[in-house]
Amino acid sequence: MSESLPTLGLADGDPAEQAVDAVVIGVYSQDADAPAPLLLASGAESIAAAFEGRLVQTLALLGASGAAGEVTKLATLGTISAPLVVAVGLGPEPAGALPATDVLRRAAGVAARALAGTGTALFALPVADDPEREPEAVRALAEGALLGAYQFAGYKTKGNGRRPALRSATMHVPDAKDRAVKAETKRASTVVRAVARTRDWVNTAPNELRPPDFADAVAAAGTAAGLSVEVLDEKALKRGGYGGILAVGMGSTAPPRLVRLAYAPRGAVQHLALIGKGITFDTGGYAVKPASGMWEMKGDMAGAAAVASVLLAVAALKPKLAVTGYLPMAENMISGSAYRPGDVVTMYNGLKVEVLNPDAEGRMVLADAMARACEDEPDYLLETSTLTGGQVVALGKRIAGVMGDEDFCQWVKEAGDAAGEPAWPMPLPDDVRKGMDSDVADISQTNANMDRAGHMLQGGIFLSQFVTADLPWAHLDIAGPSYHSGEPTGYWSKGGTGVPVRTVLELIDRLTQPGSAARLRRSL
Ligand code: BES
Ligand code: MN
Ligand code: ZN
Repeated sequence: MSESLPTLGLADGDPAEQAVDAVVIGVYSQDADAPAPLLLASGAESIAAAFEGRLVQTLALLGASGAAGEVTKLATLGTISAPLVVAVGLGPEPAGALPATDVLRRAAGVAARALAGTGTALFALPVADDPEREPEAVRALAEGALLGAYQFAGYKTKGNGRRPALRSATMHVPDAKDRAVKAETKRASTVVRAVARTRDWVNTAPNELRPPDFADAVAAAGTAAGLSVEVLDEKALKRGGYGGILAVGMGSTAPPRLVRLAYAPRGAVQHLALIGKGITFDTGGYAVKPASGMWEMKGDMAGAAAVASVLLAVAALKPKLAVTGYLPMAENMISGSAYRPGDVVTMYNGLKVEVLNPDAEGRMVLADAMARACEDEPDYLLETSTLTGGQVVALGKRIAGVMGDEDFCQWVKEAGDAAGEPAWPMPLPDDVRKGMDSDVADISQTNANMDRAGHMLQGGIFLSQFVTADLPWAHLDIAGPSYHSGEPTGYWSKGGTGVPVRTVLELIDRLTQPGSAARLRRSL
């Protein structure tokens, strides 16, 4: 669906002499009393030399301040090989040798987006000043550039009038043959492909991606990637006793699905289960949502899209860890067969749930999928979903909420920090659990008095009842960060962001580091 991402390359020649359409350099902002209005970041030396000392003054004249997110374009008029310099703001000069990883990632993203319509660009941004961080910094730039260039193809019949995405992004490095740098660059392109695929699915119109369509698309991609694929249709779900998925899904003319994707490499000793919410559209059911923002609920399958994309990336990255994805898919609609408040639903694990709010549909489908995942005896379980508006109220549009096992939550948080997808640990308190006691069933789906206190936590507590094995688990609520409704910023385009694909891939990487699994188990 997305127009193709730029190709990625490495180059170590003089940036001033590269035959490209544009060279991207970095600029830091300065205090008001500093001698110069801004400061060139490393990587820009030979460009500055070609401008014979006038580059900083010229950029300042064009309005550059070095603020993060700022882009200043300068025609080079023959001073260097490339006809265009793009100066991208990196904010204040960093205390360490290099800017923070996500500052680099965002800057590359901003520059790449500004270069739409351009063919080839060289990113001569600071990576060399800290040899230890160089591979990570190059990867951040590569990820940022590709993510920033992402465009959703969309549905305009007469063409969308946009300039086409940057065609090729080359990172300038001290040694283009450095093995660590090459490996990280390759990883960046696999990771970004997974993010772009997630964004595409989230951005797809909900009439084009109903549960059977989504299941077919995931199954086809999974099979092509060499994963084991299993799709349960509505009949199989009925036979299997998936009461939660059926309750939500049977209000729609497009029946529900449960897709299982498995990657099981020879010799893997550990197994990670990933579960993602796949509500292809959430009207709220008989607790119908207001019309004004309802369309955004086309993104209510972001968790499932991310998990599917992670599995596809895993098939390429081949970690020594078994990973299985479980994607419950349903459309939460209103009809004569829709579930209603007061219904009591028998879930996959046999627990009886009193439905109070048909808009709390995510936890119904996830609960079944989580209980099913536990039967495969994984060592870790991570579930992710656009579960509650409460997450957005508590933590905003950028920071996900993570609940569950305390130490595993910390691992998820740290992976998210490294990936530039922050998450913050949240508790699962007893009093909120008590508030979900039902008069008639084992548990209410939400607070029994519809009290919204601890709204996000209610979701986590409900899901905890369906972790039917003793293992480290976490619930990552991505209601806010999975969708960006504002103007493009950093490496985020408008629409799906691809959160938490990079977090989960980072977590998998960490779980496969020598000794790390044992470390985590010890800390539990
Ligand atoms: N999909 C929504 C949550 C959501 C809200 C996602 C905003 C993205 C942005 C979820 O199914 C929902 O409706 N949650 C309810 C739960 C409530 C009824 C207990 C909510 O958050 O209000
Ligand atoms: Mn809902
Ligand atoms: Zn929902």
